[in-house]
Amino acid sequence: MPPVLFDPDHRLWLLRGPTTAYAIRLADDDTVRHVHWGATLTLTEAVKVAERISPAASSFEAVAAVDELAVEGGARFGPPSLLVRFADGTRGVQWRYAGHDVDGGHLRIRLHDRHYPLRLTLHYRVCADSDVIERWTTVENHDDRTPITVLRCDSAAWAAPHRTDYRVSHLVGGWNSEFQLRRTDVAVAETVFTSRRGVTSHHANPWLAVDDGTAGEEHGEVWSTALAWSGSWRITLHRDPVGRTTWTGGFGHEGLTWSLAPGEALDTPVFAGLYTAGGFGAASRAWHGYVRRHVLSHPNETRPVLYNSWEATGFDVDEVGQIALAARAASLGVELFVMDDGWFGARTGDHVGLGDWVPNPVRFPNGLRPLAAEVRRLGMRFGLWVEPEMVNPDSDLYRAHPDWVLHMTNRDRTELRNQLVLNLGRPDTAEWTHAWLDRLVAAHDIDFLKWDANRPFTEAGWPGHGDPDRLWIEHTRAVYRIMDRLRADHPGLRIEACAGGGGRADLGILARTDQVWTSDNTDPVDRIDIQHGFSQLYPAQVMGAWVTDSPNAATARETPLRFRFHVAMAGVLGIGGDLAAWTDDELKEAVELIAAYKRIRPVVQHGTAYRLRGDGTLTAVQYAHGDEHVVLAWCPTRPYGHATAPLRLTAVRPEVVYRDTDTGATYAGAVLLGSGLPLDLPSGDHASTLVHLRPVG
Ligand code: DGJ
Repeated sequence: MPPVLFDPDHRLWLLRGPTTAYAIRLADDDTVRHVHWGATLTLTEAVKVAERISPAASSFEAVAAVDELAVEGGARFGPPSLLVRFADGTRGVQWRYAGHDVDGGHLRIRLHDRHYPLRLTLHYRVCADSDVIERWTTVENHDDRTPITVLRCDSAAWAAPHRTDYRVSHLVGGWNSEFQLRRTDVAVAETVFTSRRGVTSHHANPWLAVDDGTAGEEHGEVWSTALAWSGSWRITLHRDPVGRTTWTGGFGHEGLTWSLAPGEALDTPVFAGLYTAGGFGAASRAWHGYVRRHVLSHPNETRPVLYNSWEATGFDVDEVGQIALAARAASLGVELFVMDDGWFGARTGDHVGLGDWVPNPVRFPNGLRPLAAEVRRLGMRFGLWVEPEMVNPDSDLYRAHPDWVLHMTNRDRTELRNQLVLNLGRPDTAEWTHAWLDRLVAAHDIDFLKWDANRPFTEAGWPGHGDPDRLWIEHTRAVYRIMDRLRADHPGLRIEACAGGGGRADLGILARTDQVWTSDNTDPVDRIDIQHGFSQLYPAQVMGAWVTDSPNAATARETPLRFRFHVAMAGVLGIGGDLAAWTDDELKEAVELIAAYKRIRPVVQHGTAYRLRGDGTLTAVQYAHGDEHVVLAWCPTRPYGHATAPLRLTAVRPEVVYRDTDTGATYAGAVLLGSGLPLDLPSGDHASTLVHLRPVG
């Protein structure tokens, strides 16, 4: 059965994923209307659903039907997805259907304005192996003389079915506290989730999940969406008083415009949607599968255990010190050594040198080659921190090109962390940025770049440019192009996305990077929450997690090494502590724990994740890969000293007997599913365990 079906009599399309269906129809006025998003339907059933159109309740109401991409115009009073203004002052759109085509799972519906030269394509893409529907739009000015002002062009609008209640799950945070999951009733209002910062942001992530208030971790219907964009964005969730909940989202925040030049087309990023009937856990697993199969470039690669110098040496890096750290890291079993900030220009602190991408001649008198060579001799790959989009005013780059930064005439240039943002929308700035990165990677055969961005945009102007708001989109596109080009030219290069921790995690950046630096907060207790939120959308395989020192640099909390390791083992394990200060016992324990991680890593990184518990006192995650299972459980506090209840596992086969590879204890699958896995947690706070189960025989 083809993934996209069309019923010409009813002008209805049906898109089908493995377990879901999505239906839309063309109304009499050629508007594309939403029909169904949920469980599988036949074409005949979808037609029946489409026939249930309620009339507007009164002359004060909008039409009751839900638009696939609402425009301004007619009796529509909700948040529009597409807002345009023509040169004569007319706003809004009236569509004429101009045909559609289907190419495999890709449906394009073409609409033309009835009077003006505006054309729109609605794109839908479905794949046989995923229930995720990718949607985006192309808007085009078909005139050869006059621009059209685009005030808003969203990628898609989504609609949950009519229910008596609605709840939204979303991610909030800040620097050091990213990905906090919030679950709240949807207000009868327009609720805006947004970043006006030029990057995805720590404060909100462009993912949300809607349910009717009854879904749980492993049951209930969930409609979730994620925007593949790494700059400013906006998603407006609208619950109207008569009961529908819809949301529209795309790139750019409110108030920005794009002058669509004659002949120009604007493509929006993908805004992907997923319906799942098995609760939030099933939604996450389906997203993880989608990210692996359709977003990441190297999903089958096992991510190496890395060492990062930042928390150990800060800006104080030099050849001798880094070689000493590298030797210690290698002796623990680290596979990738990453030198963080401070290696270039006059960069002795955050106030100077950013933008001058040549090794500091005092710290690295022989350039980076001796360090890179030694790292390789020690059997590790070599990685480097870069922050290509930023510049310190106190740098040779800024002195030479003060006009390359985002700025506005007659406005101060606001510095954050003593730095400004380069306008990569400018072709010369972008070209220069690509050139130095390309040279750097080639000269040292760099395996890994940690691509950082440590401040949001301010005074985002482009003096002399006729359409300066473009930079909000062009900057991000330039970042994508530079990354894509580097990766094409250096196929071995892997990239970690970072923006002061997890300020740039989204499906757009993951299409050209391999992992995310999840948060600058490496406190394992805080990390449990951060990782819980991160896992809603993103798989463990992209979640960078370091073991650092105790007390923690951010929170001053003291925790045992084992607990720190067990928390970090839930993602891509890294070490970020000052190894010179670790005791022999700690180093010995670290060797054992890194070896243990390498044994469970295929299951964690390539397996299916089940969030078993997450109630503040005990959080536990199970990863299943084939017949192997890994359980990580963390207990930050132990109220009353009570023992924790056994952990009921999932996805094990009842008839199979499993052996704990560490203790040798055996458990029948039926028992693991029923009474559960006894957790042998040490007493006291910050207790944790790692259990690796394999079938006996
Ligand atoms: C912010 C990152 O998140 C840190 O890990 C570190 O790389 C610093 N920037 C360096 O300036």
